[in-house]
Amino acid sequence: PPTAPPAEPAAAEPAAAAPAPGYPETERAAVHRLMRDRRDVHHGFRSDPVPPEVLLRVLEAAHNAPSVGPAQPWDFVIIKAPETRNAIHELARRQRETYARSLSKARARQFRQLSVDAIRDTPVNIVVTADPTRGGRNTYGWHLQPQTTPYSSALAVENLWLAARAEGLGVGWIGFFDERELVHALGLPEHLEVVAYLCVGYVDSFPDEAEQGPGGWTHRRPLSWVVHEESYGRRALPGAEPHDLLSQTLAEIRPLDAQALGEAWERQKRMTKPAGSLGALEVISAQLCGLSRSCPPPVPEPAAVAVFAADHGVHAQGVTPWPQEVTGQMVANFLGGGAVCNAFAAQVGAEVCVIDVGVRDELPGMPGLIPRRVRSGTADLSVGPAMSREEALRAVEVGIEIARDLVAAGNRALLTGEMGIANTTPAAALVAAFTGAEAAEVTGRGCGIDDETHARKVDVVRRALQLHQPDPSDPLGVLAAVGGLEHAALTGLILGGAAQRVPVLLDGVSAGAAALAARAIAPEAVSVCVAGHRSAEPGHQAALTALGLRPMVDLDLRLGEGTGALLALPLVQSAARAMREVATFDSAGVTDKN
Ligand SMILES: Cc1cc2nc3c(=O)[nH]c(=O)nc-3n(C[C@H](O)[C@H](O)[C@H](O)COP(=O)(O)O)c2cc1C
Repeated sequence: PPTAPPAEPAAAEPAAAAPAPGYPETERAAVHRLMRDRRDVHHGFRSDPVPPEVLLRVLEAAHNAPSVGPAQPWDFVIIKAPETRNAIHELARRQRETYARSLSKARARQFRQLSVDAIRDTPVNIVVTADPTRGGRNTYGWHLQPQTTPYSSALAVENLWLAARAEGLGVGWIGFFDERELVHALGLPEHLEVVAYLCVGYVDSFPDEAEQGPGGWTHRRPLSWVVHEESYGRRALPGAEPHDLLSQTLAEIRPLDAQALGEAWERQKRMTKPAGSLGALEVISAQLCGLSRSCPPPVPEPAAVAVFAADHGVHAQGVTPWPQEVTGQMVANFLGGGAVCNAFAAQVGAEVCVIDVGVRDELPGMPGLIPRRVRSGTADLSVGPAMSREEALRAVEVGIEIARDLVAAGNRALLTGEMGIANTTPAAALVAAFTGAEAAEVTGRGCGIDDETHARKVDVVRRALQLHQPDPSDPLGVLAAVGGLEHAALTGLILGGAAQRVPVLLDGVSAGAAALAARAIAPEAVSVCVAGHRSAEPGHQAALTALGLRPMVDLDLRLGEGTGALLALPLVQSAARAMREVATFDSAGVTDKN
């Protein structure tokens, strides 16, 4: 019989070799310092020429970049001639003006600081191109991802930027070009793409923070927001426990700052006006101080209204005469700029953001829409839960993320908006669940219904409350049982705004319902809320009473979309501006009353 081959003598385990070494500590620190110190510079350039050997070192660094293939798709066109730089400056200036005209008022004011003058102010401009034909079909992965060609050139830009910083050279990236127009103006071969237009020169000093950073355009997002462990959404920094978005947000919510609040009331007594004469606005002024931890507070601008759109299974019960497809159609209208919220937003200088958190219909090809659909409409809350607890949580998280993104993008006030045919039915059920009010007390006529439909709607809300027996101490459970996806997302927006310490201007009954849910999750969240208006919906008054909020505007609006919050925005901004700009009796030499 065959015999087993003799066992091989066990190979001796080689002594584990140490991994290849990194850099010594000081060099590593220098690399990290370089990456921290690299800045996009557009101001304070000097006319000193850049010596050829310095420029060469910088270009060598760029040329060392990784690339797909490696196709090394970049070319560097060095431009020094003033005529060329003037011509290119003119192109960029025109594009910049066109863009500026598309901005909201507050954004346009900030944007004024962003100039394209570095094109003329620097001695050297460098155009970095990508040649998609270089390497061509032999470049691996190229057929699947042709964009890896410009990616590679962008990596060369980063190398250039870092090497320039180490040489003490400032680099400003100008992005205001129609790319084809630039190719023609520079006389580049048609097959090239321009990846970057860089202005390079010595500077008086490097800014410590991004020129468009704090107080300006955007903020750097914390690393902890963007590192996920194993699966997207399980956020964890290396070495730390994963945290879920909701609990992290709740941990960041703090009460209004007592010292700033005290200073606010003191200052209001000394301002050149009779004490208390600004009425309820003085409460808002103090609230803004407590929120921003500063007296006077910053004016809350720019502002954005987040319009969450979703559909409702309870529509099947005949609670509204409007067909469900109107939700998706209105989303298109918001994006096209044709809705009331667009007109009001333009008037008060706010930005409109439209988020699909649960529209029933497909919404193909809608540029500008923020797609965050948790499910395509809820189930009918009168016969079962509107959604699962997990879905309610996901919708809350959508709201938190939108709040974070809007604040990171530079917004200093958030406004609630919503669109969802039939959504005053879940709003009424939520208000009833959180306040203990009867269905009949809080159920209104939404966008307009007759007596018969109203009676049916009250009955639907009553039956839903009986069926689910929602427990107000379990707010996620309440949202899941009788809420809507936009109500859950608005709850998240309020919590996210509270964690980011920006005022949240509430619109109508849906926002009121969401604020009740937010308060049940985190009582301090209400301290960032300002009631934009009082709507004609009875449930809204019940919510405002329970929240202890006084509405800024009372005009019988019953539209939603954030319209009431938008109208209140200038009032809230005026409350901050008064604190900042009104003289005090002592500073103005005005005699106070005896
Ligand atoms: C693709 C791209 C295009 C850019 N375009 C412009 C621009 O047109 N104008 C400008 O001032 N900065 C522009 N920048 C620079 C960024 O605004 C800048 O990197 C950001 O504010 C962060 O600042 P920091 O680079 O100093 O950290 C651009 C950056 C990149 C990556």
